[in-house]
Amino acid sequence: MTSRRGLSANTVDYGDRDFALFLRKAFIKGAGYTDEDLSKPIVGIVNTASDFNPCHGNVPALIEAAKRGVSQAGALPMVFPTISLHESFVAPTSLYLRNLMSMDTEEMVRAQPMDAVLLVGGCDKTLPAQVMGALSAGRPFVVLPTGPMMTSQWAGERVGACTDCRRLWADFRAGRLNQTQIDEANNRLVPSVGTCSVMGTASTMACILEVMGLTVPGAASAPAVSADRVRIAQASGLAAAALASQQTSMVQVVEAHFENALTTLLAVGGSTNALVHLAAMMGRLGLHLDPLRFNELADRTPVLVDLKPGGQGYMPDFHDAGGVPRLLNTLGPLLNLNLPTVTGETMAQRLSALCAQGRMETHSQSIIRSMQDPIYPSGGLRWLSGNLAPQGAVIKPVAASISLLKHQGRAVVFDGLEDMANRLDDPLLDVKPDDVLVLRGIGPLAAGMPEAGLIPIPKKLAAQGVRDMVRLSDGRMSGTAAGTIVLHISPEAGIGGPLSLVRNGDLIRLDVEQASLELLVSPDELELREKEQAHLNLPSVVKPRGYGWLHGQHVLQAPQGCDFHFLRGEPRA
Ligand code: FES
Repeated sequence: MTSRRGLSANTVDYGDRDFALFLRKAFIKGAGYTDEDLSKPIVGIVNTASDFNPCHGNVPALIEAAKRGVSQAGALPMVFPTISLHESFVAPTSLYLRNLMSMDTEEMVRAQPMDAVLLVGGCDKTLPAQVMGALSAGRPFVVLPTGPMMTSQWAGERVGACTDCRRLWADFRAGRLNQTQIDEANNRLVPSVGTCSVMGTASTMACILEVMGLTVPGAASAPAVSADRVRIAQASGLAAAALASQQTSMVQVVEAHFENALTTLLAVGGSTNALVHLAAMMGRLGLHLDPLRFNELADRTPVLVDLKPGGQGYMPDFHDAGGVPRLLNTLGPLLNLNLPTVTGETMAQRLSALCAQGRMETHSQSIIRSMQDPIYPSGGLRWLSGNLAPQGAVIKPVAASISLLKHQGRAVVFDGLEDMANRLDDPLLDVKPDDVLVLRGIGPLAAGMPEAGLIPIPKKLAAQGVRDMVRLSDGRMSGTAAGTIVLHISPEAGIGGPLSLVRNGDLIRLDVEQASLELLVSPDELELREKEQAHLNLPSVVKPRGYGWLHGQHVLQAPQGCDFHFLRGEPRA
């Protein structure tokens, strides 16, 4: 009987499998392969290099190293492309296109003959898209993050993308920096290829995936341009080859992996975007991210990693301190370490082996704190609910102003980004420092959920020294940003969520300790408004054709990960 592994898998439908394989071999031999090469297990390597994606600028070097690892292990590396998404280069938003990348990955992994796949990605949406696709495709996979960029110096201070990009831009808006200074800073903020150098979404997802056991050790933190990163790529190739040749077993991702993931997200003071991506990944397996359970985990999990935007350091510091393995040594009691990893052992066995090999950092450092000395005691992220967010909203208290975590203020409402851009800096805008800025019409359906939740402080208040205000939206915020920002309000205004009923001057109450977000308007009045309001004049990315049509028909809200409903798995008991 003909093997259905290696090159023989997934033959093209001609009604004659032997002919299909004969034809496939004839073509691939045109590239110089021998029969011996073609008899080996195959590792597909996803190439997401793109001139439009500097976060993936090291992908060619990583692929070379990974191929070395695959070949050393006796398998055949086969590189293939998928689309690539960089935060600053894809309009209207990268989240809008994440599901397209996920579908591309899933279908190419499923369609082509590979026994395992190495997912090489890094920029914010790419690892979530790849893992969502691979989970749905059901093939063994290993994740290889591209790794964080280096940091730099500007005007005597250490800087890195992109917390400092936002901070310096806010200083420029407020008149604290002039044009020459901001232009100089622009040259220094991104000193190398690689993902953002703080605990933004890219690094958060990389840490989470390492804790889930879906990478080799150290893969989350080694700088993109370091020798460690190249060695990690080679080790990732070896691990993928072992999966392809069935020397190790495919990791069956289960709910316990996601409990570890959520705990890690909290412990690293990670990005709010990770909640969207984890909900989407869980949905692919028929699982549901439970807000109550998330807040329980938040209540017991301290923030242990002192990186921007919530803390002080940068990703290269985290790597030097010992990275995820050292964090796990501290965080272990809150995790299930008996889950399998892509290298065949459990996470507990992996950590023991690192210790035994002398590869576990033990030197004194201040980036990865102990449970007794956290940088934030608990609740680094919190899921909110209330009459303004019946399906939920999210805030990142660790990056917020403590004085604003319990706050009541007047709503100042903007309908979409254009309205905000037109009016925010108007000297006549009726806004005071204790008001609540509300930006609606930037939810998943209306706008592809841009990272615009960090509403700029109106210029006239910024010039008075106001640096933070309570700001609400149905959009997202970059993982590199900070402020008292309520995000992901669901349902979004664009589908008639209560956010669409807010009017200028309404009182809004935020109480993070109580996990509540309330619009202080009577139910009768809200009912009246609902009847009066046919629909708001909000912008829309819904298109009459193509991917925009697909997105408009099928995108789900943030608590379901903004996935397409037809991509989700059957609900698990
Ligand atoms: Fe790619 Fe920040 S822009 S990780």
